[in-house]
Amino acid sequence: MMEVYKTKKIITHNLIKGVNPDYQRLSSFSPTYIASNENVDDYLNLIGVKPNQKVLTVLASGDQAFSLISMGIKDIDTFDINGLAEYMALGLKRAMILKYNYEEFKNALEIFNDYYTKEAQVNELISDLLPFMDLKYRVFWQKILNYNHRLQKLLFQNQNLISLLVVENIKDLNTYFKNISYLKNANVYDTLRHQLNDANISFKACNVTKLTEKFAGNYDLLILSNIMDYLFLNYGLDWTYPKLLQLEQDLEKIMSPEGLILLHYIFSYDFVDQKLFGFSHVYAKDLIDEEIKSIANSPKENPSIILKRCKKG
Ligand SMILES: C[S@@+](CC[C@H](N)C(=O)[O-])C[C@H]1O[C@@H](n2cnc3c(N)ncnc32)[C@H](O)[C@@H]1O
Repeated sequence: MMEVYKTKKIITHNLIKGVNPDYQRLSSFSPTYIASNENVDDYLNLIGVKPNQKVLTVLASGDQAFSLISMGIKDIDTFDINGLAEYMALGLKRAMILKYNYEEFKNALEIFNDYYTKEAQVNELISDLLPFMDLKYRVFWQKILNYNHRLQKLLFQNQNLISLLVVENIKDLNTYFKNISYLKNANVYDTLRHQLNDANISFKACNVTKLTEKFAGNYDLLILSNIMDYLFLNYGLDWTYPKLLQLEQDLEKIMSPEGLILLHYIFSYDFVDQKLFGFSHVYAKDLIDEEIKSIANSPKENPSIILKRCKKG
């Protein structure tokens, strides 16, 4: 199992050298997200998701997919360039939702999110979650737990395994719970719990630039999170509007005639002609066929989304 080997490498590296958020970031197997840092609930409400829609989303922490299931969607296809996202989201996070009620979920997440939680406590929590995982994920996490325990003993360490495997901790748990549809209250969470066993979430490790090679589609909705901030890795200095248009045209091949692409999540948008994506040369004034929508208003932060409506046929 290459995934186990690669995850062991992340653990070893982070235990010996100290956690470095940039370590192997955005390679095909690197530290991942345990929670979304977006206001997912606001944008899903703005978009107006319907239960019969066919959706493709980036996986990341799984929060976009789980929120969609809490809104009634049963079949969701997901992708991510980072293979570890699958084990964190569809292995660990899914098991947390299946095992815990709302309050228990909150408590467990707090423990996982605390950098100072002891190795033994995390070990016990994850061990209790194993029966709630599909076999593939159970085998993975069991091997990771064993390895981590042996290594930490050898190195006289006592570190929270989750903090070794995530890109960043959740900064403010209250805001996080407010922003994620299925975590807003116990009722929505329970709806998700009931739907989750019957829902299908597929996953393919894939770069966004190769989606049309891997997914056949006819999607009504495609969610790309803030992947555009990282496409300088693909396009370098040529990360310009024509490149974005080319990518949109490619993605439209897997969309239904009136499908909607959530092209990008902007964390803080000041409505001046600033660069829309990190390290890109794409500006708000460039956008001809896309819409920028503000999803919440606060003087400091102004999260927004960029939408592209397909008009085929
Ligand atoms: C852009 S990140 C940031 C977290 C995000 N804001 C959230 O709330 O989940 C989301 C996910 O995109 C993935 N990703 C980044 N670049 C990608 C690419 N070129 N193709 C596919 N997935 C990518 C990362 O691995 C990560 O899991």
